[in-house]
Amino acid sequence: MPVTLTQQEKMLVNKTFYQIVPISDRASEKFYNRLFEIAPEVQPLFNKANMTEQRKKLIDMIALVVYSLDNIEKVVGAIQKLGERHKDYGVSQEDYAKVGAAFLWMLESELGADYTPEVADAWTKTYQLLSDTATAGVYDEE
Ligand code: HEM
Repeated sequence: MPVTLTQQEKMLVNKTFYQIVPISDRASEKFYNRLFEIAPEVQPLFNKANMTEQRKKLIDMIALVVYSLDNIEKVVGAIQKLGERHKDYGVSQEDYAKVGAAFLWMLESELGADYTPEVADAWTKTYQLLSDTATAGVYDEE
C-alpha cells in the first residue's frame, strides 16, 4: 500500500516547510553535517559534488514534493527518474533511511516547539512517500 497523507498532514507539512524556506541554506547545511556525522560512509559519494549547488537542488526537490502533495501522481515520474539517477551515483536502498533520519533531525532542530508529534508523523510519511517512490523498481531485481 502506498503511503497516503490526510489533508491535515499535508497542511502541516506545507506550513512547516514555509518556515524552513527562508532559512533553507542553513537548514540544508545542517542536514548534510548531520548526515555525514551519523553516516560518514556516504560522504565519499558526494566527492564530486559542489555542495553549495547540492544544497539548493535538495531543497528544490523537497519543495516540488511538498507543493505537489495534493497531486502526487504528477511528480511520480520525476521522482522515479531521480531514484534511477541515485542508483548510478552509488546510492543504496539502505542509504535512504540515513538521509531520512538526518532530514527529520534537521526539521526538529530548526522547528523547535513547532515540531509537534503530529508534524513529525506528517513529515515521516512525506519522506517515506518520497523514498518509496524513488526506490520502487530500482533495486528490486537484485
Ligand atoms: C529521497 C530523497 C532525496 C532527494 C529529494 C534527493 C535529491 C537530490 C537531487 C535533486 C540531486 C541533484 C542531481 C539529480 O537530480 O540527479 C541529488 C544528487 C545526489 N544525491 Fe540525492 N536525494 C535524495 C536521497 C539521497 C540519498 C539517500 C543519498 C545517499 C546518501 C543521496 C546522495 C546523492 C548524491 C551522491 C548525489 C550526486 C552528487 C553529485 O555528484 O553531484 N541522495 N539528490
